[in-house]
Amino acid sequence: GKGEYDHFMLKEIHEQPTSLAQAIEGRIDPENGRIALEDFGPGTFAGVSNVQLVACGTSYHAALYGALTLNQAGVRATALLANEYGVAAPPIDDGTLVIAVTQSGETADTLRALRRAKTNGAETVTVTNVVGSTAAREADETLFIRAGPEIGVAATKTFSSQAVMLTLLAQRIAADRRGEPPADLDSLLPDLAAMPDEIEAVLESSDAAAIASRYRSSRSYFFIGRGLAYPVALEGALKFKEITYEHAEGFAAGELKHGPLALVTPETPVFAVFTGQEDEKTLHNAEEAQTRGAPLVAVCPDGHPACEIADAHLEIPETDPTLAGLLANVQLQLVSYHAAELLDRPIDKPRNLAKSVTVE
Ligand code: F6R
Repeated sequence: GKGEYDHFMLKEIHEQPTSLAQAIEGRIDPENGRIALEDFGPGTFAGVSNVQLVACGTSYHAALYGALTLNQAGVRATALLANEYGVAAPPIDDGTLVIAVTQSGETADTLRALRRAKTNGAETVTVTNVVGSTAAREADETLFIRAGPEIGVAATKTFSSQAVMLTLLAQRIAADRRGEPPADLDSLLPDLAAMPDEIEAVLESSDAAAIASRYRSSRSYFFIGRGLAYPVALEGALKFKEITYEHAEGFAAGELKHGPLALVTPETPVFAVFTGQEDEKTLHNAEEAQTRGAPLVAVCPDGHPACEIADAHLEIPETDPTLAGLLANVQLQLVSYHAAELLDRPIDKPRNLAKSVTVE
């Protein structure tokens, strides 16, 4: 049941310290800078030259997160919407690995893309939450995110675990290709081990309820971020529209000035996510919106330069830029939840949506 929580969504948001700890348990060794993904023997990914990640919705945002971490680790990778894959699949060659990212393992669009990839000779991996799901059975290899059952239609804890597992997988693929562990694991793994506590700190101190209330009855809600904060901005907006039924959009911070800025008014709060990747540029983009009257909500550590100009602040602990977006995402999950609660929406079962979409 929901226990002390009014909704499964809130319960699942609060489960993230536990679900993330379960995901990484036994898989990382911060002292020795090692990653052990139990199903994959040494050198499994040595021959991988390029990676295609296929997924839909929130899982697509996790896939985008994964593609960026792969690129940053020096591995060619693209995230593709599974429902576009039928007409827009990039070529598959001997070194192509296709990763299907799907919480349920039953999403028809994603299964179709996975099958197409297999037919075309790609090696396949599924990253999923559901043991025995179709995607888990059909892929060559499966990596379980171990988030536990997710009842709320809006995906929350599973996004965090997907992004973390893809980050680990990215490091493994990069290491297998090079025949040695990537150098930056020394800082990433201890920060990853600290994530459950940091999420707990965010949950305990979040001002999301006050901010949701302050900006209720706005016309539109915009979410911006750069680098790994970009998929987080997209996810923030998707969650917001799904459960509040209000208009929300996520943009790459640098794209605002290429069109969306025309929509910005005092009635469109802008949530800017800062993860330590060219933050000064994102701050400049955010200021451009603020100059047009938009309230600016900065999602960043305390003492960050964005705090000096922002109208409101959602604090996240300092961490590795590879992980900061996931802490920011928890703040945005809470904003959406509280905004939907103020509007009295059926948070766990939004209209027109299903937990698992088994039709193309
Ligand atoms: C959003 C949401 C959906 C799913 C999408 C893919 O909150 O839940 O966007 O992420 O339908 O579902 P899975 O991950 O089961 O393939």
